[in-house]
Amino acid sequence: MEVICVANQKGGVAKSATTAILASVLTRKGNRVLAIDMDPQGSLSKQVGANINGHEVYDVLKGNISARDAIQAMESFHIIPTSIILAGLEAELMTDMGKYFKLRDAIERAKLTELYDYIIIDTPPSLGVPTVNAIVAANKVLVPTDADCDSINGIIQLNTTIQNVKKYCHVDPQIMGIVFTKFDPRQNNSKDMMSLAMRVPDALNTRVFGTYIRAAVAVREAKSRAKDLVASNPTSNVVLDYSSLAEEMFKEG
Ligand SMILES: Nc1ncnc2c1ncn2[C@@H]1O[C@H](COP(=O)(O)OP(=O)(O)OP(=O)(O)O)[C@@H](O)[C@H]1O
Ligand SMILES: [Mg+2]
Repeated sequence: MEVICVANQKGGVAKSATTAILASVLTRKGNRVLAIDMDPQGSLSKQVGANINGHEVYDVLKGNISARDAIQAMESFHIIPTSIILAGLEAELMTDMGKYFKLRDAIERAKLTELYDYIIIDTPPSLGVPTVNAIVAANKVLVPTDADCDSINGIIQLNTTIQNVKKYCHVDPQIMGIVFTKFDPRQNNSKDMMSLAMRVPDALNTRVFGTYIRAAVAVREAKSRAKDLVASNPTSNVVLDYSSLAEEMFKEG
């Protein structure tokens, strides 16, 4: 049983795409998978065509309903969706001493780890309360990144947040590694990538995955049509890449 938080406070590095496609790939491999959308923008929820007018993650975090009652079965995996209401949570929980433990508690109370092999949590491009909740709830953190020259700074900041979570929240999420996404050999500066890849292990004590996720228009198309890419385009490069990434992520069991 793995609870994986997909995080990077840099925007547009394919956190939501990674969550959706990885969840789908792991389902295809025979696992029971739940995705949780912790980004108030709700792009993951929209991407998979979830209903955001019913129960959602906000109700779960507020303790109004059990996490089990917010689960929706989508085309391949299950999801607890979100709407923009989640954006107000941070202010509402301002003086709540347990504000960072809402998601972890909800997962525990509903015994979700008995229902699923993998829970994958999508996070917003910020290091606020929703992202920290996701890190606290997770035992693993996956960091997608683009190959920009300044990407390392965001990753170092994320690492600091994770170290603080370990220190002050007494949980022990491990950074699984960094994965390059939207990789386009014609556009990406391979020098930037190499220098980023070389700095990561020292700065963060983690690895860069050997699998890169190639850029492909199929991702954007699947998103705009709320289609499951693995079902609609199972042999596309991106699906193959995420499939190899899943193998690499869970190789040692
Ligand atoms: N492998 C890929 N090839 C081409 N486009 C991609 C790929 N992965 C993601 N994208 C596109 O890049 C854009 C950003 O992706 P996505 O929304 O997943 O990033 P994000 O990190 O979740 O963004 P945010 O920080 O806003 O939550 C989207 O339009 C998505 O369709
Ligand atoms: Mg996103």
